[in-house]
Amino acid sequence: MQKRVYIETYGCQMNEHDSERILRLLGTCHYIETKEPDEADFILVNTCSVREKPEQKVYSALGRFRHLKEGRGAIIGVAGCVAQQEGDRLLSRIPYLDLVIGTHAIHLLPQMLEQFEVSGQKVSETEFDTGVDYLRETLPLTSQGKVKSYVTIMQGCDRFCSYCVVPYVRGREKSRPSGEILEEIKSHAASGVKEICLLGQNVNGYGKGLEGEPGFSELLHRINEMKGIERIRFTTSHPADLSEELIQCFGKLEKLCEHFHLPFQSGSDRILERMNRGYTRESYIEKIDRLREVCPSIAITADVIVGFPGEEEKDFEETLDLMKKVRFDDLFSFKYSPRKGTRAAGLGDQMEEQVKQERLEFLQKIQKEITLQKNQILEGRIEEVLVEGYSKQSERDVTGRTRTNKTANFEGDLGLVGCLIVVRITQAYAHSLRGEIVPSDCGMPNADCGMKTLNL
Ligand code: 5AD
Ligand code: SF4
Repeated sequence: MQKRVYIETYGCQMNEHDSERILRLLGTCHYIETKEPDEADFILVNTCSVREKPEQKVYSALGRFRHLKEGRGAIIGVAGCVAQQEGDRLLSRIPYLDLVIGTHAIHLLPQMLEQFEVSGQKVSETEFDTGVDYLRETLPLTSQGKVKSYVTIMQGCDRFCSYCVVPYVRGREKSRPSGEILEEIKSHAASGVKEICLLGQNVNGYGKGLEGEPGFSELLHRINEMKGIERIRFTTSHPADLSEELIQCFGKLEKLCEHFHLPFQSGSDRILERMNRGYTRESYIEKIDRLREVCPSIAITADVIVGFPGEEEKDFEETLDLMKKVRFDDLFSFKYSPRKGTRAAGLGDQMEEQVKQERLEFLQKIQKEITLQKNQILEGRIEEVLVEGYSKQSERDVTGRTRTNKTANFEGDLGLVGCLIVVRITQAYAHSLRGEIVPSDCGMPNADCGMKTLNL
């Protein structure tokens, strides 16, 4: 009998990607996806605990689904980082919860569901070492009809930044063999995918512990050779692991998109040290300068945390100063939130919420200006856009990303989906660009020219 599963996903791309694996896996045991929780037989909340806000959202989501358990007997499960961290405690805290699936136990989900259906007993599995590699055991959803796909190249993280829960909930760093990665990309390319984004908590550490395997730069070289793939991206990187070899890739690999997401977290050396980040503001800035030397058009984005324990006004000013020096294309900024089990959560000089909030708002205001100014530089310029679908605002417009990962909207129809279109940017906004198709041969290497694609 066909059953329906509804998955609600919180947090990062990694979680989105795990949810796709879960859907594919459940497809093999008679579950189809529904977007309506009210009609689901199984509701799964895939959780994130990297900061307090996404974690709280999980508990309110579960509250919303309670009546579906009580009313129509839906099975309710929790997966992801909160499941990993809380384990059985979740089952006693939330009486209507049936399943808890840790971050390394996804492949066990069909058995767990069956066990629950047969016995009616709550089931939880949060072992890190389940004896099998869940990435090998579960495949992502087929990419038919998709323009871009994510490919996990490594799990976990060994860096132990003092504020971060990831090493505890995702485990030690483990790279996937390159053969598996290349196979997966090949199958995406065969079903029409044009853009690949390589995923991992610290992708530039790829290859550690894999003897005879390529390092990250070599992996990029190999993907660059693959037919059908037009664009390569990756996320996330750690400044201390960013090698000159990787920087050089941006001058050599024509499919590697001109965008680098390089979290700096703080502009103060004192705070960076307390965060256990393993680099200084100077060495961070030097890496950005090198990236820009090798690839002048590269867009740089980053993550930053304000209100880390003991952050004084002068530390915060150094963060603002670094932002103004680097001039990021965009910045993801967060208030520090203490995470259970991390070193920073035990520090005595936690900051007041109000100060964190004020600093966050101040920083965001400055960045908003910089982002807009960076976008405005593109007005009048020619950009290659990979079209993904209709824009959210209007069905007369399509939307896609430039190689620098900026959203661009322009007039067009769904026939353009999956095409690399050459667009002239006519208007810049804080969060997107507006453009028009360039109706003549523009000489860009990969792009279909607008003329050709529209059969004009
Ligand atoms: N508090 C606030 N932000 C955090 N991040 C990770 N842990 C915390 C925390 N405890 C941010 C970092 C990281 C991003 C994914 O989330 O900036 O790069
Ligand atoms: Fe967390 Fe640091 Fe690892 Fe990133 S590098 S996942 S911030 S421990």
